[in-house]
Amino acid sequence: MSNVLLVGTHWGDEGKGKIVDVLSESVSGCVRFQGGHNAGHTLVIDDVKTILHLIPSGILRDEVKSIIGNGVVISLEALNKELDDLISKKIKIDNKLFISESCHVILPTHIALDIAREKSLGKSSIGTTGRGIGPTYEDKVARRGIRLIDFFNHQNLKKKLEKSMEYHNFILTKYYKEESISVDDTLNTLMPIFNKIKKFICDVIPLILELNNQSNIIFEGAQGAMLDVDHGTYPYVTSSNTTLSGMISGTGIGVDKVNYSLGITKAYTTRVGHGPFPSELDNELGLNIAKWGGEVGATTGRARRCGWLDLKILEKSIELNRIDGIALTKLDVLDNLESIKICTSYGAINYDTFEVDDLEYIELEGWQSSTVGITNMADLPKKAIEYIKTIEELSKRPIVMISTGPSRNQIISVKNIFS
Ligand code: GDP
Ligand code: IMO
Ligand code: MG
Repeated sequence: MSNVLLVGTHWGDEGKGKIVDVLSESVSGCVRFQGGHNAGHTLVIDDVKTILHLIPSGILRDEVKSIIGNGVVISLEALNKELDDLISKKIKIDNKLFISESCHVILPTHIALDIAREKSLGKSSIGTTGRGIGPTYEDKVARRGIRLIDFFNHQNLKKKLEKSMEYHNFILTKYYKEESISVDDTLNTLMPIFNKIKKFICDVIPLILELNNQSNIIFEGAQGAMLDVDHGTYPYVTSSNTTLSGMISGTGIGVDKVNYSLGITKAYTTRVGHGPFPSELDNELGLNIAKWGGEVGATTGRARRCGWLDLKILEKSIELNRIDGIALTKLDVLDNLESIKICTSYGAINYDTFEVDDLEYIELEGWQSSTVGITNMADLPKKAIEYIKTIEELSKRPIVMISTGPSRNQIISVKNIFS
């Protein structure tokens, strides 16, 4: 069977959720493998918008199993809220959601530490989502994390929490001068939620392999390649591997199971949070693109910074993820522009000032007509096709899907990547 790895090629919010939703018509399983509820993946079907943070974007289809791999960090409260939201929309969950017992759990102290650290960093803060993602991954690597499997043994859990939270509370109160958080309160909040969701927890590896014997699977990346903790714009990154390697460690499934690696690339580039952004348009045009593209964070509601498509990053993402083809999203957002640039090269980035040496661009004429909702390549304006062909030539990868609006049906499918 044919599996697709789907990853963001830049700094996240490339439209991964929409593309997963479109492709999940052809799969039996959709698997998240890293990140947590820092992600916000937006799906629009018949004018109804759903934003998913933790639950894989295949959940809206009844015949698709949604699986959360061991590499994802779980906030029980966020999961509960998301489930309630889906249930209120009459989305079926039972026998469709499966969560790895090895997922690490985000505790209230992780969130408090994330927020306290950002506050103390002041101007040099990362601009995190404040969801406790970094401190939870730190605990995982430091071998003092709490996993979902620990919640099945209440007595042991209490001891583990006491040990772990004593350490957190020490840093919170002594170093950051913040309030401490009680273990009992934490248990009282988390246990009822755990009891509600424990039916979804299992060893997910056999399930993924079994599903894969019969049908195709999508591995749904969160964030984007430049937020990868090893390969991104460190330290302005998230705390997981957002690229191909994260899929392998975050599921336990081998790289031989990835038959097609699909990079999700926005027709321009955005970034939310702090850090260098070489092709940023820190001007009125950038603000206009943000307005036309509705570039407001799906998780935190923060304004996203906008700039021209960064080809240098696209090339790096292609290498990191072994990308076979690209889904180009939000083409319609560029409809009004007289001319469009692509950033092709730059030298060193100064990580203190975020200044960049020797920026180079190529410039193309804009098409200045609507592409909204177009579903056939032949119906696109000639200059839009030129823009697409230029990206294909420069990146040396085919553009296999083009998204022309937020809705499920606003898509041009150039090639069936499952065949
Ligand atoms: P993700 O994190 O990569 O899943 O992306 P987000 O959902 O955070 O952000 C993408 C935003 O763009 C969402 O509001 C989508 O509804 C919207 N979107 C996705 N594809 C398109 C498109 O082709 N055109 C337009 N105009 N909006 C799109
Ligand atoms: P999706 O999956 C865009 C950014 C934050 C911050 C940095 C670290 O929707 O594309 P964290 O809370 O992870 O420690 O924050 O990473 N960030 C994202 N930016 N899209 C996301 O997810 C992001 N998840 C984290 O803004 O700069
Ligand atoms: Mg997002």
